[in-house]
Amino acid sequence: MKREDIPWPKGMLLICTKCGTYIPADELKNPKDVAEQIRDDFRTRLKKEGLHKNLRVLVSGCIDVCEVGTQAVAFVPGVEGEVEVLTLHPEKDREELFQKIMKRIQSK
Ligand code: FES
Repeated sequence: MKREDIPWPKGMLLICTKCGTYIPADELKNPKDVAEQIRDDFRTRLKKEGLHKNLRVLVSGCIDVCEVGTQAVAFVPGVEGEVEVLTLHPEKDREELFQKIMKRIQSK
């Protein structure tokens, strides 16, 4: 076994791909591929901020925390800090999520 250096020093954001299938379509502007939409939006915005190499943004299997109608995400810090698992509305809460993650990856 070999320990690898982490190429994304601030960590990773995991976005459950299953949650979106349980959110009623009439609660979303775009109900298709909800996790992928969040991932792509984050990647685009992080790139604009020049931070895309600091945080890996991935869609994942089930994180097993959501209530029906919410989207689960997990922030997993790269080297230090606490894992943070959140549930949210994938569209209405996206800006708040982005700002929260920006704070985490811009600290220190
Ligand atoms: S279905 Fe996996 S955390 Fe929501």
